[in-house]
Amino acid sequence: MSPPVRRTVLTLHVVISVGWLGLDLGLLGLGVTALTTGDPEMLRASYLAMNVLGDTLIVPVSLGALLTGVLLCLGTPWGFARYHWVLVKLVTTLVAATASVFALRSHIGTAAASVSRALPAELLSLDLGGVDRVLVIAPSVALALYALNVALSVFKPFGRTAYGRRRAARPDRVAGP
Ligand code: HEM
Repeated sequence: MSPPVRRTVLTLHVVISVGWLGLDLGLLGLGVTALTTGDPEMLRASYLAMNVLGDTLIVPVSLGALLTGVLLCLGTPWGFARYHWVLVKLVTTLVAATASVFALRSHIGTAAASVSRALPAELLSLDLGGVDRVLVIAPSVALALYALNVALSVFKPFGRTAYGRRRAARPDRVAGP
Protein backbone atom coordinates (compact mmCIF):
# COMPACT_ATOMS: atom_id res chain seq x y z
CA MET A 1 0.00 0.00 0.00
CA SER A 2 1.18 3.53 -0.70
CA PRO A 3 1.45 5.69 2.46
CA PRO A 4 -1.81 7.65 1.79
CA VAL A 5 -3.78 4.42 1.13
CA ARG A 6 -2.29 2.80 4.23
CA ARG A 7 -3.22 5.79 6.40
CA THR A 8 -6.76 5.81 4.96
CA VAL A 9 -7.29 2.10 5.66
CA LEU A 10 -5.73 2.49 9.13
CA THR A 11 -8.11 5.41 9.87
CA LEU A 12 -11.09 3.31 8.78
CA HIS A 13 -9.78 0.38 10.84
CA VAL A 14 -9.40 2.43 14.04
CA VAL A 15 -12.81 4.14 13.61
CA ILE A 16 -14.66 0.88 12.95
CA SER A 17 -12.89 -1.35 15.47
CA VAL A 18 -12.95 1.19 18.31
CA GLY A 19 -16.59 1.87 17.30
CA TRP A 20 -17.19 -1.86 17.91
CA LEU A 21 -15.81 -1.36 21.43
CA GLY A 22 -18.25 1.55 21.89
CA LEU A 23 -21.12 -0.59 20.61
CA ASP A 24 -20.39 -3.22 23.27
CA LEU A 25 -20.17 -0.53 25.94
CA GLY A 26 -23.69 0.57 24.93
CA LEU A 27 -24.94 -3.04 24.91
CA LEU A 28 -23.43 -3.55 28.38
CA GLY A 29 -25.18 -0.43 29.73
CA LEU A 30 -28.50 -1.67 28.36
CA GLY A 31 -27.94 -5.25 29.58
CA VAL A 32 -27.11 -4.07 33.12
CA THR A 33 -30.14 -1.74 33.11
CA ALA A 34 -32.46 -4.54 31.99
CA LEU A 35 -31.06 -6.93 34.63
CA THR A 36 -31.28 -4.51 37.54
CA THR A 37 -34.19 -2.15 36.87
CA GLY A 38 -37.41 -2.28 38.87
CA ASP A 39 -39.30 -0.45 36.12
CA PRO A 40 -41.04 -2.82 33.68
CA GLU A 41 -41.08 -0.32 30.81
CA MET A 42 -37.36 0.38 31.27
CA LEU A 43 -36.76 -3.38 31.07
CA ARG A 44 -38.74 -3.66 27.84
CA ALA A 45 -37.11 -0.55 26.33
CA SER A 46 -33.60 -1.81 27.18
CA TYR A 47 -33.98 -5.14 25.35
CA LEU A 48 -35.75 -3.49 22.39
CA ALA A 49 -32.92 -0.94 22.11
CA MET A 50 -30.36 -3.76 22.31
CA ASN A 51 -32.22 -5.48 19.49
CA VAL A 52 -32.06 -2.37 17.28
CA LEU A 53 -28.31 -2.08 17.90
CA GLY A 54 -27.87 -5.83 17.36
CA ASP A 55 -29.84 -5.89 14.09
CA THR A 56 -28.30 -2.79 12.56
CA LEU A 57 -24.71 -2.64 13.80
CA ILE A 58 -23.24 -5.95 14.99
CA VAL A 59 -22.73 -7.50 11.52
CA PRO A 60 -21.30 -4.44 9.68
CA VAL A 61 -19.10 -3.32 12.57
CA SER A 62 -17.62 -6.73 13.44
CA LEU A 63 -17.02 -7.66 9.78
CA GLY A 64 -15.68 -4.15 9.08
CA ALA A 65 -13.10 -4.43 11.88
CA LEU A 66 -12.05 -7.85 10.61
CA LEU A 67 -11.91 -6.82 6.94
CA THR A 68 -9.93 -3.59 7.49
CA GLY A 69 -7.55 -5.52 9.80
CA VAL A 70 -7.03 -8.17 7.10
CA LEU A 71 -6.40 -5.43 4.49
CA LEU A 72 -3.73 -3.90 6.76
CA CYS A 73 -2.06 -7.32 7.10
CA LEU A 74 -2.12 -7.87 3.33
CA GLY A 75 -0.97 -4.37 2.42
CA THR A 76 1.73 -3.65 5.02
CA PRO A 77 4.90 -5.44 6.16
CA TRP A 78 3.07 -6.55 9.36
CA GLY A 79 1.63 -9.59 7.53
CA PHE A 80 -0.68 -12.15 9.20
CA ALA A 81 1.70 -14.47 11.03
CA ARG A 82 4.97 -12.55 11.34
CA TYR A 83 4.25 -10.87 14.71
CA HIS A 84 2.62 -12.35 17.80
CA TRP A 85 0.47 -9.25 18.44
CA VAL A 86 -1.08 -9.45 14.96
CA LEU A 87 -1.82 -13.19 15.32
CA VAL A 88 -3.44 -12.69 18.74
CA LYS A 89 -5.62 -9.88 17.32
CA LEU A 90 -6.64 -12.01 14.35
CA VAL A 91 -7.69 -14.92 16.60
CA THR A 92 -9.52 -12.78 19.21
CA THR A 93 -11.35 -10.84 16.48
CA LEU A 94 -12.35 -14.00 14.59
CA VAL A 95 -13.73 -15.53 17.81
CA ALA A 96 -15.47 -12.30 18.86
CA ALA A 97 -16.99 -11.66 15.41
CA THR A 98 -18.30 -15.25 15.13
CA ALA A 99 -19.75 -15.16 18.67
CA SER A 100 -21.29 -11.71 18.10
CA VAL A 101 -22.85 -12.47 14.71
CA PHE A 102 -24.20 -15.93 15.55
CA ALA A 103 -24.74 -16.12 19.34
CA LEU A 104 -25.04 -12.58 20.76
CA ARG A 105 -27.55 -11.44 18.11
CA SER A 106 -29.73 -14.48 18.67
CA HIS A 107 -29.72 -14.03 22.49
CA ILE A 108 -30.66 -10.37 22.08
CA GLY A 109 -33.44 -11.41 19.67
CA THR A 110 -34.76 -13.95 22.21
CA ALA A 111 -34.87 -11.33 25.00
CA ALA A 112 -36.50 -8.72 22.74
CA ALA A 113 -39.16 -11.19 21.53
CA SER A 114 -39.98 -12.20 25.14
CA VAL A 115 -40.40 -8.62 26.39
CA SER A 116 -42.44 -7.71 23.31
CA ARG A 117 -44.92 -10.51 23.96
CA ALA A 118 -45.20 -10.03 27.74
CA LEU A 119 -47.89 -7.93 29.40
CA PRO A 120 -46.60 -5.03 31.57
CA ALA A 121 -47.56 -6.92 34.75
CA GLU A 122 -45.54 -9.98 33.67
CA LEU A 123 -42.34 -8.16 32.68
CA LEU A 124 -40.50 -8.05 36.01
CA SER A 125 -41.14 -11.74 36.75
CA LEU A 126 -40.28 -12.89 33.21
CA ASP A 127 -38.01 -15.98 33.16
CA LEU A 128 -35.50 -15.51 30.33
CA GLY A 129 -33.68 -18.75 31.17
CA GLY A 130 -30.39 -17.02 31.97
CA VAL A 131 -30.31 -14.93 28.77
CA ASP A 132 -30.54 -11.76 30.92
CA ARG A 133 -27.23 -12.67 32.60
CA VAL A 134 -25.64 -13.71 29.28
CA LEU A 135 -26.49 -10.24 27.94
CA VAL A 136 -24.31 -8.71 30.67
CA ILE A 137 -21.49 -11.27 30.56
CA ALA A 138 -21.06 -11.37 26.75
CA PRO A 139 -20.56 -7.59 26.24
CA SER A 140 -18.23 -7.54 29.29
CA VAL A 141 -16.02 -10.27 27.81
CA ALA A 142 -16.14 -8.58 24.39
CA LEU A 143 -15.10 -5.24 25.92
CA ALA A 144 -12.11 -6.87 27.62
CA LEU A 145 -11.05 -8.48 24.31
CA TYR A 146 -11.33 -5.24 22.32
CA ALA A 147 -9.46 -3.28 25.00
CA LEU A 148 -6.76 -5.99 24.79
CA ASN A 149 -6.70 -5.52 21.00
CA VAL A 150 -6.25 -1.75 21.36
CA ALA A 151 -3.40 -2.29 23.84
CA LEU A 152 -1.76 -4.89 21.54
CA SER A 153 -2.02 -2.45 18.61
CA VAL A 154 -0.42 0.40 20.55
CA PHE A 155 2.34 -1.55 22.39
CA LYS A 156 2.92 -4.18 19.65
CA PRO A 157 4.51 -6.58 22.21
CA PHE A 158 6.12 -10.07 22.06
CA GLY A 159 8.14 -9.58 18.88
CA ARG A 160 8.25 -11.84 15.84
CA THR A 161 6.86 -15.36 15.53
CA ALA A 162 9.22 -18.22 14.54
CA TYR A 163 7.90 -17.82 10.98
CA GLY A 164 8.51 -14.05 11.13
CA ARG A 165 12.10 -14.60 12.33
CA ARG A 166 12.84 -17.12 9.55
CA ARG A 167 11.29 -14.80 6.98
CA ALA A 168 13.23 -11.75 8.20
CA ALA A 169 16.49 -13.74 8.00
CA ARG A 170 15.98 -14.48 4.29
CA PRO A 171 18.29 -12.23 2.26
CA ASP A 172 15.59 -11.45 -0.35
CA ARG A 173 13.25 -9.92 2.28
CA VAL A 174 13.07 -6.40 3.69
CA ALA A 175 13.52 -6.44 7.48
CA GLY A 176 9.94 -5.40 8.41
CA PRO A 177 7.94 -2.37 9.53
C1 HEM B 1 -11.63 -5.43 17.95
C2 HEM B 1 -10.75 -5.57 17.01
C3 HEM B 1 -9.62 -4.59 16.76
C4 HEM B 1 -9.28 -3.42 17.40
C5 HEM B 1 -10.01 -2.74 18.58
C6 HEM B 1 -8.11 -2.89 16.71
C7 HEM B 1 -7.51 -1.67 17.03
C8 HEM B 1 -6.43 -1.14 16.35
C9 HEM B 1 -5.83 0.16 16.60
C10 HEM B 1 -6.31 1.16 17.68
C11 HEM B 1 -4.78 0.33 15.75
C12 HEM B 1 -3.87 1.56 15.59
C13 HEM B 1 -2.58 1.37 16.37
C14 HEM B 1 -1.56 2.46 16.07
O1 HEM B 1 -1.43 2.91 14.92
O2 HEM B 1 -0.86 2.86 17.03
C15 HEM B 1 -4.69 -0.89 14.95
C16 HEM B 1 -3.73 -1.13 13.98
C17 HEM B 1 -3.57 -2.34 13.33
N1 HEM B 1 -4.45 -3.41 13.35
FE1 HEM B 1 -6.13 -3.58 14.49
N2 HEM B 1 -7.76 -3.75 15.70
C18 HEM B 1 -8.65 -4.81 15.70
C19 HEM B 1 -8.65 -5.89 14.85
C20 HEM B 1 -7.61 -6.21 13.98
C21 HEM B 1 -7.52 -7.39 13.18
C22 HEM B 1 -8.53 -8.54 13.12
C23 HEM B 1 -6.35 -7.34 12.48
C24 HEM B 1 -5.82 -8.38 11.52
C25 HEM B 1 -5.20 -9.41 11.99
C26 HEM B 1 -5.71 -6.08 12.82
C27 HEM B 1 -4.50 -5.65 12.31
C28 HEM B 1 -3.92 -4.42 12.55
C29 HEM B 1 -2.65 -3.96 11.98
C30 HEM B 1 -1.74 -4.78 11.03
C31 HEM B 1 -2.43 -2.66 12.47
C32 HEM B 1 -1.20 -1.76 12.19
C33 HEM B 1 -1.38 -1.03 10.88
C34 HEM B 1 -0.23 -0.09 10.53
O3 HEM B 1 0.54 0.31 11.41
O4 HEM B 1 -0.16 0.23 9.35
N3 HEM B 1 -6.50 -5.42 13.72
N4 HEM B 1 -5.71 -1.75 15.33
